[in-house]
Amino acid sequence: MKVKRQYQCEACGASVGQWAGQCGDCGEWNTLVEVALAARPPSGGGRRAKASGGYSGSITGRAAVVDATDVELAEDLRIAVGIGELDRVLGGGLVPGSAVLIGGDPGIGKSTLLLQALSALQKQGVSSLYVTGEESLRQVMLRAHRTGVEAEGLKLLAETNVETILALAEKNEPKVLVVDSIQTTYTQVLDSAPGGVAQVRESAAEMVRFAKRSGTALFLVGHVTKEGALAGPRVLEHMVDTVLYFESESSSRFRVIRATKNRFGAVNELGIFAMTDTGLKAVGNPSAMLLSRGDQEVPGSVVMVTREGTRPLMVEVQALVDDSSLGNPRRVTIGLEQNRLSMLLAVLNRHGGIATSDQDVFVNVVGGVRVTETGADLATLLAVLSSLRNRVLDRGLVVFGEVGLAGEVRPVSGGDERLGEAAKHGFTQAIVPKANAPRKAIPGLKVAAVSTLAEALERAW
Ligand code: TYD
Ligand code: MG
Repeated sequence: MKVKRQYQCEACGASVGQWAGQCGDCGEWNTLVEVALAARPPSGGGRRAKASGGYSGSITGRAAVVDATDVELAEDLRIAVGIGELDRVLGGGLVPGSAVLIGGDPGIGKSTLLLQALSALQKQGVSSLYVTGEESLRQVMLRAHRTGVEAEGLKLLAETNVETILALAEKNEPKVLVVDSIQTTYTQVLDSAPGGVAQVRESAAEMVRFAKRSGTALFLVGHVTKEGALAGPRVLEHMVDTVLYFESESSSRFRVIRATKNRFGAVNELGIFAMTDTGLKAVGNPSAMLLSRGDQEVPGSVVMVTREGTRPLMVEVQALVDDSSLGNPRRVTIGLEQNRLSMLLAVLNRHGGIATSDQDVFVNVVGGVRVTETGADLATLLAVLSSLRNRVLDRGLVVFGEVGLAGEVRPVSGGDERLGEAAKHGFTQAIVPKANAPRKAIPGLKVAAVSTLAEALERAW
């Protein structure tokens, strides 16, 4: 019997019966992927109804309009995993029936962390099932022994077929299901190879539907491409409730997990772990850890308070400015956006009268944390200037604030919390945007509120 196949264009949505390199409808290249055939022949607008419906947990065929006030709110019973920093990025614990995608470079610690999490859950009597598609059961257990994870009572399964996985999950009824990794699984609905766009999407969709239907909390492990995007279609991110992402370099001693999407908590929340021989250990006081500086005062170093998610975090920004031998001097950032640095240097030139056009500028956020908010602007510029002039800044100084194109210093969110964190860690001086000036004096902290870059530079030395 001839198997019927269907392909759909990722760009315009056109569907055809035969694969081609170019979509006949919109002309885009390499956009046709195989899709699951609808259970019933398509009629009218119902094309692919089976495959695309139901991420929200509703079951097609039982649709009903309800009053907003009738929606039950009682649930939201979270399961605290018991690993502080993981609970934090999850938004306070694991939500039953939710799907969490956890991504990161190979070897960064995804499998280790999840095994640790399942072990911690097991101790509270929360049942789980760990499905491995990459490693053999022996390899999983060897690692568990190596990292000291207590695996007693854990249920493991080596399988890549989604239908089999779900049938066994249905039977075992785990409260938490881990699938490591989504790139190795495949569904029988499609006959393309595992790891391809279509398979990843369809397999994930089936598992997410299972999670919503059964109330199982689902962890999907995803691999990451060089560019940092989760391999496979971005549509995966839309299907799941939470996307966690290991963002530190694999050479770093620390591991930082960022919630880049969370339907159950704050986005951009960071979880910070230390790598040890016995797995990942949550770091309770990350500011203290990130600030472990030597006793020497060095030019080019500035401490700032950033706020990623809901927590203020103290980080050190370092800059090195050096004569450039290139016609096009280098602008290199680690942990900050590079375009932002170029922009800030232009502002420094126009509104501070300080040119760096013949200098290489390197900026590094110490500790492997990536700062995504604009509150780092002022610290970056002060670090650059400190290095350029070879003049150290006071050790007790902390700064934050956004710098606008007109040379103005703009307020950032959570000013009071940031200043509170600085005071807690023994800082004595702060340069902050005018609108972030505290209403009440903070004991031990002298705050200079500035409204322009020129003013900030004046206050710094
Ligand atoms: P692993 O969890 O297998 O990475 P991933 O699943 O993301 O590919 O971790 C890779 C190796 O590092 C593994 O052999 C265990 C080891 N490891 C530690 O020894 N300590 C740790 O804290 C972590 C995270 C990993
Ligand atoms: Mg792994």
